[in-house]
Amino acid sequence: MTSAVTTEHGDVTPLPRPSARTNLRLLRRLLRDPRPALDELTATVGPVAGLGLGPMRLAVVGDPVALGELFSTPTESFRWGHRFNTLGFVVGDESMIVSDGPDHRRRRASVQAAFGRRRLDGWIPIVVEEADRTVDELTARPDPTTATPVDLAPVVRTAVLRIAIRAFFGDRLVDRADELGDRFQRAQDYLESPALRQLPHRLPGTSRARVRDDRRALDAIIDTEVAACRRSPSGDPLDVLESLVVDGTLTDDEIRDQVVTLIGAGYDTTAASLAWALWCTTTTDGLWGRLRQEADEVLGPPGSPVPPDHDVLTRLELTDRTVREVLRLHPAGSFAPREAVVDVEIGGHRIRRGTLVLWSPYLAGRDPRTWPDPLRFDPDRFVDLTDEQRARAEAAWVPFGRGPRRCIGFALAQMELVLLLARLAQRLDLIPTSASVPPAIGMVVNRPLGGVPMGVTAR
Ligand code: HEM
Repeated sequence: MTSAVTTEHGDVTPLPRPSARTNLRLLRRLLRDPRPALDELTATVGPVAGLGLGPMRLAVVGDPVALGELFSTPTESFRWGHRFNTLGFVVGDESMIVSDGPDHRRRRASVQAAFGRRRLDGWIPIVVEEADRTVDELTARPDPTTATPVDLAPVVRTAVLRIAIRAFFGDRLVDRADELGDRFQRAQDYLESPALRQLPHRLPGTSRARVRDDRRALDAIIDTEVAACRRSPSGDPLDVLESLVVDGTLTDDEIRDQVVTLIGAGYDTTAASLAWALWCTTTTDGLWGRLRQEADEVLGPPGSPVPPDHDVLTRLELTDRTVREVLRLHPAGSFAPREAVVDVEIGGHRIRRGTLVLWSPYLAGRDPRTWPDPLRFDPDRFVDLTDEQRARAEAAWVPFGRGPRRCIGFALAQMELVLLLARLAQRLDLIPTSASVPPAIGMVVNRPLGGVPMGVTAR
């Protein structure tokens, strides 16, 4: 039963909700396996819908037009450092990702300066080197001619982590990539664990205690690097940590939290997207060959230097569309939360103060009014669009969010994904172990269940 209130914008109704039984079932499911819950809620109630239990109120927003309204609502109407936020324990309370207001603006602005075009272009050779290193390791296995499946998920995760470490610290910490990877992975696994296990406590010997120890160890590593930057700056224009230290706007605590955030928010998301990309491209007829042809034309033979020039990315046009299609169907975050601190109106509905708004790039990327045959993987769907189709597609393609809280690493992630995919297609033959992509798993990061087991041989 909804009661309409007429405002200057027309009728504004409370959020539609499912029946009490469905509400409970979907809430439980949302916390374990969010995608089927989001699909069912949309099918039964609509793409803007409410769920709740006692004082906890949720609003799910997956309609592209409503998302446009959400992203243009002033950020002061929402809070990211809300009571349901579990990230702060890992990334730190001074991370931009859990900050609001002037603190958020200052922290984000300081980091943003490090993500300019020149620096991104400067990272292009690092990405290609890491792609080549990955291929070399895969093809140097004792018997690389056999098609014994290798799980490529951890392999690409290592590549993406090494890129992050080299990009953010210069080459200083790359030898400790395995240790850093283990520590970040434990934190990631913890964030994926059931909500009850994440309740705050200080019991020793638990997974929470281990994550706390890992964070202390990461802090010590970063402190050492900060001290080294102060003592003898390398002058490396690509080194993010050094630029944060030299900039001087942030305290050491803030620098630590931003660095942990950048690696934590950046590497598992990008690695999971690449894992999906490998599945989608090798199970779509002829696509791997088309990507290879494009890479041959643009990147030149392996071993020849790839210039740190944005033009390379522009010319990898099919690869770029392919990555866009991967992120449409399999965005790394199925939903992202923000809490309304005042009543807001979205999609013709009133969302009350205190409601946790879960906006969903996953639902928008599957919106049947925007995307014909939405579940079909088709990078060519972005070609020859009318102006109206392009505008709709733009509004519904939001894997990185939009507005002042848009993902700060979106350009780096897209650049990495395009270059890594192009180079892998150029140098490897992959034989997927199944003819179709697997189902998804993951509460925080959406990734393929069972990893990416594929036969791998050199081209
Ligand atoms: C495919 C890869 C990635 C995806 C799909 C992704 C997606 C997102 C999304 C959906 C948000 C939340 C926006 C919101 O709350 O409205 C976000 C925020 C953020 N992302 Fe990413 N991300 C990716 C890679 C990266 C990388 C590589 C970095 C760092 C280098 C990064 C750093 C961040 C940070 C710091 C925020 C918080 C921004 C803020 O609160 O102002 N992400 N990302």
